[in-house]
Amino acid sequence: MKTWLAFVTAALVALPCNAQQAADTHAPEGPGAGRVATSAAVDAAQAAKAAGRPARADDWMVSAANPHAVAAGARVLRNGGTAADAMVAVQAVLGLVEPQSSGLGGGAFLVWHDGETGEMTTLDGRETAPLAATPRLFQDDAGEPLDFFEAVVGGRSVGVPGTPALMKAAHDRWGRTDWAGLFDDAIGLAEDGFTVSPRLSGMVAMDALRLSRFAPTRDYFLPDGSLLEVGDTLRNPAYADTLERLAAEGPQAIYAGPIARDIVETVRGAPGNPGLLTEADLALYKVRERAPVCAAYRAYEICGMGPPSSGGLTVGQIMGMLEPFDLAKLGPDSPRAWRLIGDASRLAFADRARYMADSDYVPVPVEGLLDPAYLRKRARRLESGARLESVAPGEPEFDHALNWADNASMARPSTSHVSIVDGDGNVLSMTTTIENAFGSRLMVRGFLLNNELTDFSFRSHRDGRPVANRVEPGKRPRSSMAPTIVLRDGKPVLAVGSPGGSRIIGYVVKALVAHLDWEMDVQQATATPNLVNRFGPFDVEAGPAANALAAALADKGYEVRRRAMVSGLHAIALGDALTGGADPRREGVALGQ
Ligand code: GLY
Repeated sequence: MKTWLAFVTAALVALPCNAQQAADTHAPEGPGAGRVATSAAVDAAQAAKAAGRPARADDWMVSAANPHAVAAGARVLRNGGTAADAMVAVQAVLGLVEPQSSGLGGGAFLVWHDGETGEMTTLDGRETAPLAATPRLFQDDAGEPLDFFEAVVGGRSVGVPGTPALMKAAHDRWGRTDWAGLFDDAIGLAEDGFTVSPRLSGMVAMDALRLSRFAPTRDYFLPDGSLLEVGDTLRNPAYADTLERLAAEGPQAIYAGPIARDIVETVRGAPGNPGLLTEADLALYKVRERAPVCAAYRAYEICGMGPPSSGGLTVGQIMGMLEPFDLAKLGPDSPRAWRLIGDASRLAFADRARYMADSDYVPVPVEGLLDPAYLRKRARRLESGARLESVAPGEPEFDHALNWADNASMARPSTSHVSIVDGDGNVLSMTTTIENAFGSRLMVRGFLLNNELTDFSFRSHRDGRPVANRVEPGKRPRSSMAPTIVLRDGKPVLAVGSPGGSRIIGYVVKALVAHLDWEMDVQQATATPNLVNRFGPFDVEAGPAANALAAALADKGYEVRRRAMVSGLHAIALGDALTGGADPRREGVALGQ
């Protein structure tokens, strides 16, 4: 271990790209390994990923961001559990081994395609704003927006977690395995310890200053004032205890009683930046079942999460605008293809900014935004062959007269995606988050609390008009998470999703176009370079693979920004067999049988 203060300056400069891009190519080892099946199958899955090959299977598959989590899910599926059962086991382990990205203190969206009925539905486990929250939550006394990290770190940004309730709701609906047993792997790993991965070690180093602000967080992530090193064994007995309670009592163990009291005390007592959460807020939390939003794309239907996520709508809009263009013929190396994808994305982001928020609070023109006639009209702007000079929101069919203002809230992501297909043919696509890396940095009973409320707009009004995604009591902040299931002739052919804040949308679109139009297998579709255009500048992933495209897009007049773009795409394609892909930028694998 190194003393973190001595390390932190160098880490802040050197680690953002390297640490996030490092892939763990070794099977998990250490004292905790015996509790998780770190089998030859995981080794083989790691080797396939390193060689750029998709995983293959006949019956079931799981693809997620950490081998321990994948192994836990695989054990459930191998024993005849459903995708919902496996998700519970995967999420419980992710909250331990990838605590910076998701966990019991966060929220998630889940898309489900039922193998028996052929029906699709979604569960919204998004965090909610406390009832005492007002549109000025993230403003100073003069009504000006707070600095982003001033808002994030501490209690103010913490919404009511949705993930524990979502895990149970999915299990109640589609589970087969005994609930309590689904936590065994996570409890064992938390008690015995797990091996710190390159990604966790790197992210702790990058964030040491913020993690050190709160004693429980500091004691766990910076033990004795030292950074976690790759290969260290990390134990989390408090998390094991929380999971034991969750296993025995269900989510009530989190939403009421002593853990709920600890959450509230931690949030309201956060030094320097207290929050508003109460026990009543926790007790009132409900998972919402919502219809998926689906957009037609060539022979496919691309289905995902509707409001409060902008993910399904924005992905659907982009794909709908791309449909008139022969992307297959243009291919992945064509600057014209990427101009079309980039400018379609800009047009969709203009609509997203204006219209998309929690539809329980503001009217969102869901059907109008995905109407093929509307998207064809928007797509005409892409025909000229030149970069769009400017973009503005369109006017989708709208059944009321409200005029929601622009909204430029920020997103600096962490987050994780899980795709699962079980032996009954059920397909699950879930994106799960605590928002920023390490969320609010507040830790309670072994898990981190989210900062999801900073996904709201910090401004309540713009140009004198209310912002759709402003803070309101009980409201769910707009998300970009885009867990997706693609259908062909009514049958699922692909499950995919990614972390990445508002870049999630571009990462998912890339994977869809790469797999559906450019006929890349799912591993190639996750690995191929990321190029994302949300608001005008073209973000092009650093590295030689995209050098030619970056130069060509700059020649077309785009402001090109080269940067690490750490997607975490986890995909499963369903055909004659199952094939799985796991993003090489993250540490996960796809594994099946
Ligand atoms: N916090 C990431 C998202 O919901 O988009």
